[in-house]
Amino acid sequence: MDFQATDKSCLDWSGDCLVIGVSEELLPLNGVLVDLNAKLADLIQEVIDEAEFKGKEGSAVITRVGKGGPVRKLGLVGLGSADPLKLEDLRRAAASAARLANKEKCQSLGLSFPVWSNDPALTAQALTEGVKLALYQDNRFKSESENNGVKVEQIHLLDLAGQAKAIRQAEQTCDGVILARQLVAAPPNIVTPEKLVETATAIAQAHDMELEVLEREDCEKLGMGAFLGVAQASDLSPKFIHLTYKPADTPRRKLAIIGKGLTFDSGGLNLKVSGSGIEMMKIDMGGAAAAFGAAKAIGQLKPDVEVHFISAATENMISGHALHPGDILTASNGKTIEVNNTDAEGRLTLADALVFADKLGVDAIVDLATLTGACIVALGDHIAGLWSPDDSLANEIVKAADLSGEKLWRMPMEEKYFEGMKSVVADMKNAGPRPGSSITAALFLQQYVKDTPWAHLDVAGPVWTEKENGYHNPGATGYGVRTLVQWIMGKEILVSQG
Ligand code: BES
Ligand code: MN
Ligand code: ZN
Repeated sequence: MDFQATDKSCLDWSGDCLVIGVSEELLPLNGVLVDLNAKLADLIQEVIDEAEFKGKEGSAVITRVGKGGPVRKLGLVGLGSADPLKLEDLRRAAASAARLANKEKCQSLGLSFPVWSNDPALTAQALTEGVKLALYQDNRFKSESENNGVKVEQIHLLDLAGQAKAIRQAEQTCDGVILARQLVAAPPNIVTPEKLVETATAIAQAHDMELEVLEREDCEKLGMGAFLGVAQASDLSPKFIHLTYKPADTPRRKLAIIGKGLTFDSGGLNLKVSGSGIEMMKIDMGGAAAAFGAAKAIGQLKPDVEVHFISAATENMISGHALHPGDILTASNGKTIEVNNTDAEGRLTLADALVFADKLGVDAIVDLATLTGACIVALGDHIAGLWSPDDSLANEIVKAADLSGEKLWRMPMEEKYFEGMKSVVADMKNAGPRPGSSITAALFLQQYVKDTPWAHLDVAGPVWTEKENGYHNPGATGYGVRTLVQWIMGKEILVSQG
C-alpha cells in the first residue's frame, strides 16, 4: 500500500476512485464542489438527491462515473458538522472511503478532504491512519484466505502536497498498531511469554534497541515474589522483558511504559467460570501488545526521548503447585500481599514491574493493563479508564488520547477505598470488594510506585471489538499504541505544522 501527498485537487486528479469528504456545511453544494459538479455534468447533485445524502457522519454513497471521465467511481462520505470538524471524523471517514473503494475493486484512491484546524500534517496523519487501519485484514489463522483481499494499492491525499513526512510517521505508527493487533488476536498457544520475547528481540534487532530478559532465577534474585507467584502453576517459563530505546543524543525526557503481559488468564484456582469469557483471555496481554507496538513505532520514529518498554510476561494457570487462595507473597519492594483472589493476578505482575521501573530514574511511568471487568462495567467496551495522582501527567495522556482518537476517561484515585484492601495478616490483600474494584486495583498499583509520576490505563474494554467500528475490523484493535506514540513524541507530532 503506497500513500502519496499531492498538490492535485479533486478537479484535476484522475484514477479509479475519488472520494470526497463532505461536511453538512458543504450542502447545498458550494465551494470547489460546484466546479467539480459542473465538470461531471451534474453527477454529484444527482447522487446527493437520489441518496438523500446530507453529509451526516457515517453516511456514504458511491456511484459510477460515465466512460471517459477522469475517474471510474465517485464516492461521497459524510463528515458531520464542520463546526467544529473533529480529527477523529476525518479518520473514520477515510476508513469508510477506503472500504468503499476496496469493495469496488479500485486500485487507486484519491481522497479529497478538508484540512483539520489549519493543520495539514495532522490531517494527512489522520487520513493515512484511517485508511491503513481499516484495510488491514488478519488471515493468519485461516487455511484459505477468504476472497476479500485488499485491492486498494495507491492512496493519494489531494491538496496535501508536502505532507510526505506526516504520512510516513502515520504509517510507522500503524505498523505498531498492527503488531499490537496481531499479538492480541493470536491465540494463547501461539503468543506465549517466549513469543513476546521473540517479538521484543525482533524489534530490538530491527531498530537497534537494547533488550534485557530476566529469567525466573533473575526475578527470584530481585525478589519479584508477586510476579513469580502468578507464574508458578504454568508449564511455560515466565519472562520479564525490558526493551529500551535510546536516542542518539541526550534524551529530552526518560519514560517507562509497562504492559500487563498475561498470555492467558484462567483465573488460577479462583477459576474463571463458564460465561466469564475465559475463552477470550488471550487478550490479557493487550497492555504488553500496546507497549511493544509502541516500541516498534518509536524505533522507526526515533524521537529524542529515552523509552523503556517493560512487561512481566506469564500465564495464570492451575496445577498442583498453583497459588492457593490465601497465600502470602512478598513483592520486590518488600510489601506483603495476601492473595485472597488468584484471579486478581494482573496487579501482582504489575507490582514487580512498577518497582523495577521506579528504580530506572525515569520522568514518568505509564502502565496499560486489561486489569478489571469492573472498568468495562463502568465505561463500556470503547473507553479505557485513566488513573493518576499526577494532574499534569494525566493531562498529557488525555491530550495525546484526544489527538489519537482513542477514548479514555479519567477516574478517581479515591484513597478511602483502600480500606477494602486491608488484610489482617499481610500488608494488603490483592482484591477488594466488588463495588469500585477498578479503583481499588489502581490504588493497589500505587503502592508499588514511590516518587515517579505515574498513570495507569485500564484497557480491558477497548483492546477488542466484536463489531466493525470505524477503522477497526472485528477483533483486536491495537488500542493504546497511537496514544502512547503521540504522548512519547510530544511536541514533535503535536506542534501544529499548519
Ligand atoms: N484479566 C482480567 C480482567 C478482564 C476481564 C479483562 C474481562 C478483559 C475482559 C483480570 O485479571 C481479572 O480477572 N480481574 C478480576 C479482578 C477481581 C478478581 C478483583 C475481575 O475484574 O473480575
Ligand atoms: Mn484475572
Ligand atoms: Zn487478567
